[in-house]
Amino acid sequence: MKSIILVGGKGTRLRPLTYETPKQMLPLVGVPMIECLFEWLGRYGVTESVLSLGYLPDRFIEAYPTNVIAGVRVSYAVEPEPLDTAGAIRFAATQFDLDETFLVVNGDVLTDLNITKLIDFHVERGGEATIALHPVDDPSRYGVVPTDADGRVTAFLEKPKRDEAPTNLINAGVYIFEPSVVDRISPYGRVNVEKETFPALAADRVLFAMPDRAYWLDTGTPQTYLQANIDILNGRQAMHAYTNIVDCSWRHPTSTVDATATLTNSVVDENCVVGANVVLEETVLLAGAVVQSDSVIRSSIIGPGAVIGRFSQLGATCVVGANEHVAPASELSGEVRLGGV
Ligand code: GDD
Ligand code: MG
Repeated sequence: MKSIILVGGKGTRLRPLTYETPKQMLPLVGVPMIECLFEWLGRYGVTESVLSLGYLPDRFIEAYPTNVIAGVRVSYAVEPEPLDTAGAIRFAATQFDLDETFLVVNGDVLTDLNITKLIDFHVERGGEATIALHPVDDPSRYGVVPTDADGRVTAFLEKPKRDEAPTNLINAGVYIFEPSVVDRISPYGRVNVEKETFPALAADRVLFAMPDRAYWLDTGTPQTYLQANIDILNGRQAMHAYTNIVDCSWRHPTSTVDATATLTNSVVDENCVVGANVVLEETVLLAGAVVQSDSVIRSSIIGPGAVIGRFSQLGATCVVGANEHVAPASELSGEVRLGGV
């Protein structure tokens, strides 16, 4: 089956990291997120894919010049301007002539969802589109999808208030589409699949949804990006054959970690330097980051080439941008974002 993977968003919630790197090119335990996603697609027999690009498209195209990601053949559909989720699907499907049932995936999800089961469910119900659903505690950050007993979608509510969500089953960002859905999307301007296309399909009673309990995470916020790394470190999902995870932490062989440093549920990517007596807890250091001696960092993401001065204390949830310098003895916590364009 062919697929369209949406990766054209600006990744605003992961700024400043996403000013230079599109969200899906950020690594999960050293492996770009997009490769984790394509390994999953490949496991379920997806052989061809269109990457729907808009924001920093060259970062993808340059990283995969042979048009293969984790064994799956990819084509690139680069939007001239952001067309939003439905506009992007229409643009990609039209450019590459998708004239059979196809798969659509939000490129920032990390999941083990059984795609074969979703396809079977779609064929059995015979609708125009089928959405995979995942149960969460707080549905207000997602698309909320009530269904009847047969799985027919009765409404689609994008990011409702928590007390107005009729169910805790949310849109997992994995869809099976018939080509007829593409004809429903206006070719003009931005069109949002969650706010326009899905409600219209639901009103026409041709939209179905399948609940699933597989591992699933949207990696689009600092907290969930850290959680994705922690879940991999703890073997909670088996997306990729990671090696060298020791005591639930991982360090790239080119990094230098002082013997007196303590790492818990943390990632130290290539060419990082971690000084004496440093404590890292639930923290990700991206390539070339430096943490000087006697600093303690918890639940934070340190961007590429950033330097944390000695005796600093960083707590939940600091995101330090590329090449930023944090002065020695800094104390930072809360929703701290350092660095800009
Ligand atoms: N090509 C293209 N063009 N891609 C886009 C555009 C665009 O204009 N806008 C967003 N995307 C991509 C993003 O890169 C991402 O992979 C995907 O579309 C979804 O966008 P997000 O910004 O991550 O949306 P969200 O997480 O707030 O909500 C969506 O995902 C939730 C599940 O993860 C919605 O689909 C929710 O209904 C859903 O529950
Ligand atoms: Mg998202």
